[in-house]
Amino acid sequence: MKKMLFVLMLSLFAAGCKEEDSPTETGQTDTDSQLYLLGKSSTGFVFYKNTSDTISKGGNSGHPDAKLRTRYNSIAAKYLDGAGKVKAGTIFPDSSLIVKELYTNNALTTYVFLFKRTGDKNADANGWVWAEISPTGSILYSASKKGAGCIGCHAIGIDYTRMNDAHP
Ligand code: HEC
Repeated sequence: MKKMLFVLMLSLFAAGCKEEDSPTETGQTDTDSQLYLLGKSSTGFVFYKNTSDTISKGGNSGHPDAKLRTRYNSIAAKYLDGAGKVKAGTIFPDSSLIVKELYTNNALTTYVFLFKRTGDKNADANGWVWAEISPTGSILYSASKKGAGCIGCHAIGIDYTRMNDAHP
């Protein structure tokens, strides 16, 4: 009886530990959920070319949806000119968040994120974090992939951003 109690307590203890450990276990997706929370609402963002209208995607866009619109949080928006385009030579500062929304048949399908956070474990060599998340919060492209498959295509842009060249 004593032994059984001991085993029971041991397993309860182990279960308790597991729960406490889980934030680190799921650490890979912390950045994803933070991005989702920071970027799902357009409040406080400024749209590219100062318009919230959707536009047709650029010819070599990596994404299948036909329509998009891109917005910049208040930190990133300081680097837009009067016409709402990214100023030449911009290097976006930390905490800049750029969100591209993708639309198919007028329905939002995807949030695509570029988030400058030097030192984030998911950031690439230039401090950018790359991710794609669905409107309901499903991770479509995790930040933990560090932009593999994204960076090459974005390298020709202003600090890796492509709106100016694809939508002049
Ligand atoms: C085949 C080339 C290509 C690939 C691959 C690609 N992109 Fe893009 N991306 C573009 C182009 C072109 C634009 C300009 C907007 C448009 O027409 O889609 C763009 C725009 C963006 C924007 C809006 C901000 C800006 O000015 O760049 C974000 C954010 C973004 N992409 C994130 C990503 C992420 C994350 C990945 C990888 C999962 C990725 N991109 C892969 C070509 C690409």
